[in-house]
Amino acid sequence: MLGCAVALEIARRGMPVEVLERAIVGAEASSAAAGILAPRMEAHGREPLRSIGVESLALYPEWVAGLGADVGLTRTGLLKVVRPGDAPDAPDVEARWLDADAVRFVEPGLAPDVLGAWLLENEATLDPRKLVPAVHAAAQAAGARFRVGEEVASADPGGVTLVNGERVEGRVVVCAGAWTAKVPGLRPLPVRPVRGQLVALSGERIRHVLFGAGGYLVPRADGRVIAGATVEEVGFSRGVTAGGVRAVLQTAVSMVPDLASANFEGAWSGFRPGTPDNLPVLGDVGGIWVASGHYRNGILLAPLTAKWMAAAVVDGARLPPVFSPARF
Ligand code: GLY
Repeated sequence: MLGCAVALEIARRGMPVEVLERAIVGAEASSAAAGILAPRMEAHGREPLRSIGVESLALYPEWVAGLGADVGLTRTGLLKVVRPGDAPDAPDVEARWLDADAVRFVEPGLAPDVLGAWLLENEATLDPRKLVPAVHAAAQAAGARFRVGEEVASADPGGVTLVNGERVEGRVVVCAGAWTAKVPGLRPLPVRPVRGQLVALSGERIRHVLFGAGGYLVPRADGRVIAGATVEEVGFSRGVTAGGVRAVLQTAVSMVPDLASANFEGAWSGFRPGTPDNLPVLGDVGGIWVASGHYRNGILLAPLTAKWMAAAVVDGARLPPVFSPARF
């Protein structure tokens, strides 16, 4: 999806864009994501992750309006639930403490042992499975040409050579997510896959995004609850495991006990593109542009990343040096 977002912003600036997609557009991390837009929770006060997340979240309403599609963007707010044995610290300076009675008033299904929760009222959600096709369609409408089933044999500063021998000339922007280190011709960057398994449940509703010690629950506009997620260093090993689903469901049911009677709608996994410092990689690597390494925040950071990358690629704007690939 990040590739679609970057293509959209470059096309809007009037530069011709071809997107070379090996398989299916947006089929990997973006489609697997839970769709949490929670910079204050995910950053836990760490900069610059917090500020870029807050900045990107602020871009979302206008960015989504420009897509002309309903992607389920909703300011649900987020509760960081505190139970016996959990660290009681606030996740962020903006978090407001709700005691047990107050939190049960706003989120009635929480477990009886919940001591209270930190409320982050500006955190939001969307449905990535609606966002991905919307960004894809908007990029096409803006003039980007998508070529699916095209594998790159080698990338260089002047273009790429495809496996079929075809040469495609132009500036190259690699948006290969967890596969970034495998792009031939690109200096290998320390971007690695971090598997996340998720479960979809229906029949029981929640109102907020709920974070507990072992995972999270996300309400969808259609009433489903997405429960996630494992954080696994298993390379590119695909699939869902009994242990992964058990861990996700255990966290879900212990946080909201009525979820035990919810319908199990399915489980899936995806690969987050992790980096050693958990920050994105945005910049030039020997003449090849890279936008990758967004780890847990790819959907959140898409509008800002696309804006920055388009400005850099089309107009030569300077990217924030803190995200430079040169740090590796
Ligand atoms: N952003 C949530 C996750 O990566 O699991």
